[in-house]
Amino acid sequence: MKEQLQNIEASAKEELSKVSDIKTLEDLRVRFLGKKGELTAILKQMGKLSAEERPVIGQLANKVRGDIEAALTARRDELKSKAEEMRLKAETLDVTLPGKKQKIGRAHPLDVTLEQVEEVFLGMGFDIVEGPEVETDHYCFEALNMPKHHPARDTQDTFYINENVLLRTQTSSVQIRTMENRKPPIRIISPGRVYRSDAVDATHSPLFHQIEGLVIDKGITMADLKGTLELLMKRLYGEETQVRFRPHHFPYTEPSAEVDLMCFNCHGKGCSMCKQEGWVELLGSGMVHPKVLEECGIDPEVYSGFAFGIGLERITMGRYSINDMRLLYENDMRFLEQF
Ligand code: DAH
Repeated sequence: MKEQLQNIEASAKEELSKVSDIKTLEDLRVRFLGKKGELTAILKQMGKLSAEERPVIGQLANKVRGDIEAALTARRDELKSKAEEMRLKAETLDVTLPGKKQKIGRAHPLDVTLEQVEEVFLGMGFDIVEGPEVETDHYCFEALNMPKHHPARDTQDTFYINENVLLRTQTSSVQIRTMENRKPPIRIISPGRVYRSDAVDATHSPLFHQIEGLVIDKGITMADLKGTLELLMKRLYGEETQVRFRPHHFPYTEPSAEVDLMCFNCHGKGCSMCKQEGWVELLGSGMVHPKVLEECGIDPEVYSGFAFGIGLERITMGRYSINDMRLLYENDMRFLEQF
């Protein structure tokens, strides 16, 4: 019997060393220590023993039970910590790693400026209208009082599709289209792309953007033109902004004026940013020429109006002190991320 007990202990320990999961371990506990287990079966035979043998075997049986129990518990702990270790290894989430930053896009500086200009004019009751970029000679030049061979055309050489169809050189074409389609009062701005056959440099590009403005009503004067454009400039460049209206000539306005902004760098003294002028030219404007009104079926004796054309690149470059126009088209993230 002593031998039997020792065999049970030995085989229990051997089986335990092979166990690799908790479920099998529990089965072993039942097999060796359970009510119908191997140890119990032997103890049931204790009655057959002599009075001297009984306490000896009893003691041994208790020791074997204790040993097996201890071995079971130890193996159980071992399996548990192994399982935990595996679980941690399998888990790839490392909360100490730095997070992945999501890059958020941002508006291009030209779009930011355009949106602000639109906001100012929408606030004054203007509509935003668009016109075609592929335009006829009529709308781009002829109807703007620039007949064929007019010298003013020289400054706006462009890409011709044929003799009468071209890429528009100015958004002023939309003035004519609007006056043909709408009755006064008219208050519109028209942003869009324009084209000229210019070589690319720091201040020129064959494609750039303008914002055209047109107001036609009874009793519109140069004072309205000045007030409107001054307000726009203050909104774009700040309340302290100073502008000046300088006499100029455009075939489709009379009188005409260019609008300059006092150099924000030197405040009118002259520096390298304003080419020593103290002022930076921003846009062309004027009172719509009576002949242009008449061509569009608007009676110049009853109605008058003003118009202007702003270079979007130019006012954007001024606002952000950008000294090379090409930066606006290169889509270099190092540049664009600064806005
Ligand atoms: N079209 C002119 C240009 O491209 C800008 C301009 C001047 C537009 C006077 C106008 C205007 O509407 O009245 O340089």
